[in-house]
Amino acid sequence: MRTNPHQERTRVAVVGAGPAGLLLSHLLSLSGIDSVVIDVRTRADIEATMRAGILEQGTIDLMTGTGVGARLLSEGRRHEGVAIRSRGESRRIDFPSLTGRAVHLYPQHEVLKDLVAARLDDGADLRFGVGDVSVHGVTTDTPVVRFTEADGTRVELACAVVAGCDGSQGVCRTAVPRQARTDYFHAYPHGWFGILTEAPPSSDELVYAHSDRGFALISSRTPTVQRMYFQCDPAEDAAAWSDERIWAELRARVNGNGFELQEGPVIQRGVIPMRSYVVDPMSHGRLYLAGDAAHTVPPTGAKGLNLAVADVAVLCQALERFFHQGSSELLDSYGRTASDRVWRAQHFSWWMTSMLHTAPDADAFGRRRQLGEIDQLTGSRAGSAYLAEAYTGWPFALTNPDSVISDTVRRSAERAP
Ligand code: DHB
Repeated sequence: MRTNPHQERTRVAVVGAGPAGLLLSHLLSLSGIDSVVIDVRTRADIEATMRAGILEQGTIDLMTGTGVGARLLSEGRRHEGVAIRSRGESRRIDFPSLTGRAVHLYPQHEVLKDLVAARLDDGADLRFGVGDVSVHGVTTDTPVVRFTEADGTRVELACAVVAGCDGSQGVCRTAVPRQARTDYFHAYPHGWFGILTEAPPSSDELVYAHSDRGFALISSRTPTVQRMYFQCDPAEDAAAWSDERIWAELRARVNGNGFELQEGPVIQRGVIPMRSYVVDPMSHGRLYLAGDAAHTVPPTGAKGLNLAVADVAVLCQALERFFHQGSSELLDSYGRTASDRVWRAQHFSWWMTSMLHTAPDADAFGRRRQLGEIDQLTGSRAGSAYLAEAYTGWPFALTNPDSVISDTVRRSAERAP
């Protein structure tokens, strides 16, 4: 016999314990707004999610300004520039002189560990490993999220608002009815072959390389573990590549004129798809989508996590206005405000991709034109400033001066020239 579901209540039901969901729950708690966060994944799975490692200035400022940035400052590394490499020559783009801003190299799974630890320290209600998640009644004032706890208990969580933070494969995106939404989708004809290698760093700063054989990116994780990527066919079988073949490909794309990769054993490998997606609108009734649930970017430029953070900065301010002042004005404009940045980031990620990758159907004109574009970018202050501004991130929207994050957001915006 099935027992009745356990009835519970919260103000914000957060579906998904990735960067968007955990950070939103953290920011709301600073404003005295309670939430319950659920995720189908276990805590260990979440903390092992391998993603990009670049935090924009606004992300750093928001995390440090709200008490979850200590490890990012002590263990992450500030990067004040990147190298754009083509025809065997690296040209550096200097962020502080162009924008007053910088980035931090600190992998996403470390951000997740910090957020989970901070939430648990705070006594937050996080439920990992749940199943059968479904969202109901979002066009009423009393939505309900149903799920089954890891121990089999069925739960009906009544709430005022559902935050859909469950990524591109989650249930929230599709809770917006098809006739009520427009899906913008673009598939790129490339994948990224990503590796972790046990080797010393090859460069102090990231290297984005254009070559006749296609794109490569040299990044880092720790003094002894490096992260590298190279453009490949999206259907490539990573397991079929020997270490030697991987290194030969990377060498051919990056080495030369005194630059030489530091090689070591490949300890992890995989192929990452490249696609762009945006749902419009980013909300439906009392359901608000944030992060990958609302949009996907290709990895070039590492905007995914940063967009999730920017979304929840806007959503947190809107929820504070709603719960503390009884006005849904900022919730109503949430999607419009957030998607302004989403489309800038879509353009930036698409543009970096198109400039640095070799299209399968590229002709001689297209390849030569790319070199002209790279020369214009690296040889002009205006060209470099566009990359530096977009890479270090645009200031967050300050929509609610009474918000707990308004000082942090304001201070971050003041860094911009
Ligand atoms: C990394 C990934 C990116 O997509 C990028 O643009 C920069 C760095 C990384 O994994 O370190």
